[in-house]
Amino acid sequence: MPAYKSIEWLEDQKALRLLDQTKIPAELKYVTLSRVEDIAAAITDMVVRGAPAIGVTAAYGLAVAAWREESDLLSAAMTRVADADAILRASRPTAVNLFWALDQMHHRVARQQPTSLVAYRAALVDAAHALAREDVEINKAIGHAGLDIVPQEATFIHHCNTGGIATVDYGTALGIIRIAHEAGRKVHVYVDETRPRLQGGRLTSWELQQLGISHQIIVDGASGFVMKNKSVDMCVVGCDRVAMNGDVANKIGTYNLALVAQAHGVPFYVAAPISTIDPEMPSGDRIEIEERPASEITEIDGVKVAPEGAEVFNPAFDVTPAHLISGIITEKGIIYPPFEETLKTLFLSNEQDHE
Ligand code: MRU
Repeated sequence: MPAYKSIEWLEDQKALRLLDQTKIPAELKYVTLSRVEDIAAAITDMVVRGAPAIGVTAAYGLAVAAWREESDLLSAAMTRVADADAILRASRPTAVNLFWALDQMHHRVARQQPTSLVAYRAALVDAAHALAREDVEINKAIGHAGLDIVPQEATFIHHCNTGGIATVDYGTALGIIRIAHEAGRKVHVYVDETRPRLQGGRLTSWELQQLGISHQIIVDGASGFVMKNKSVDMCVVGCDRVAMNGDVANKIGTYNLALVAQAHGVPFYVAAPISTIDPEMPSGDRIEIEERPASEITEIDGVKVAPEGAEVFNPAFDVTPAHLISGIITEKGIIYPPFEETLKTLFLSNEQDHE
């Protein structure tokens, strides 16, 4: 097991400890946060990132809010949690897991019908713990489902970072690679560097090193060359939101990778917990795409690499249309096109399981 934890509740301090992903690989540094504003800022500034990790962080953010209430009134704590909910929802727009996790917290706590401040705080902490635990189980199940399509010797291209630190543990797309490695498959990963934040070059490579998994970092623009000249079995990526027609929002560059994969006949798989499917989103066209600061592109580690005054367009995500996707690997198995049908069936059967 890796010797780090992406997200940890500190019961004695009623605070949240996050692995600071902006410092990896140079430093293994943690931050302890006991104010909701700081937790929201940690999400916005990508101290914590990756759709499932953002969701679980926000869930604990509600627990932190309830514990920060100084009066002993249940109603005051509830107001404080409602305010925290609004602050956390505004932290990043694209990953639906953030909104899903906050909604789950409210449903789960309401089911407990807490009638005292003590019970309310306990219900919030318990609900956040449950979401964190379930995330690990779901990721393992995604990994095992993915084994079905991983050959004995497998070469992957992976984009962004979808590993243990993008989740509570194991990861989604990287979890599939990890579980295949643990199951004795001989795996090699071409790791897209993932400009501009370098989640691949900094984080995925670091995680694969800890796990002893063979890999090489490539620049994002190398994927065509690699697919033409090396035998790549599949691309596997994570996602931030799946629309009901099978369009998928993920880290900028995913769409390019999918186009290159199609041109070379390389299967393109998306790993997604069911919580990343947005039943309210008919197609990818309506998914809000976060735009991030120009400095992410014009500077590298604080050093200017673009001319002063250069204009920048910096969408953090793109949408890969369903027709470029071979399959979506979920904790309940792999679904295939036509996604309009298979996603609906999966979503409904999952709802029934949770009734
Ligand atoms: O901007 P980021 O680093 O949060 O983007 C992360 C991704 O795009 C991941 O692929 C996605 O969230 C899935 S993480 C299991």
